[in-house]
Amino acid sequence: SADEVRLRSEGQSMETMRELSQGCQACPLYERATQVVFGEGRFDARLMIVGEQPGDREDIAGKPFVGPAGELLDDALQVVGINRDDAYVTNAVKHFKWRPSGKVRLHQKPDAKEVHACKPWLQRELEQVRPEVVLCLGSTAASAILGRPVSVTQERGLHDDPGLPYAVVVTFHPAYLLRLQDVKERRRAERAFCEDLGLCNQFIN
Ligand code: URA
Repeated sequence: SADEVRLRSEGQSMETMRELSQGCQACPLYERATQVVFGEGRFDARLMIVGEQPGDREDIAGKPFVGPAGELLDDALQVVGINRDDAYVTNAVKHFKWRPSGKVRLHQKPDAKEVHACKPWLQRELEQVRPEVVLCLGSTAASAILGRPVSVTQERGLHDDPGLPYAVVVTFHPAYLLRLQDVKERRRAERAFCEDLGLCNQFIN
């Protein structure tokens, strides 16, 4: 359960947490995923980037944001002058949730129970990294960080919640941008995405 995860991971180093997390059975997602995809990057990063959950490619590689969404993220970070190697990158949920569809594994959005079950890992990462700013990619990440349902379209941008020890920037999930068919709409959303990413710069330079 989430409580067990909390107790077992308390006070552990990042390396130990990464190892402990591999055996996590706090929700049923472990049954179908290849492995836990823990966060990676600088443990002293000022910027923490939080996605939703690993995708097909991440599930196999064991690393966050290495597939198409990761490529778009990398491009946008470069546009606004942020080096991904300076950040810590993770996900709200650390097992890939999917259902079979022919030969492909179709991504499924994690539900609130799964996000809750995985929350202690994210909490530990936040405690260890102690970022200045957390960039939330999509509503799942934003809800996990802000602790309430979040609509990205309504709440994009900077949140300076006095109850949190870090600034929060909410933006689209890169996979959402990849799904936009209309070229104009896609370009507009990409510009907004870069604008949001750029908001992180004031906290990291
Ligand atoms: N989408 C996510 O939310 N996270 C990843 O790591 C990859 C794709």
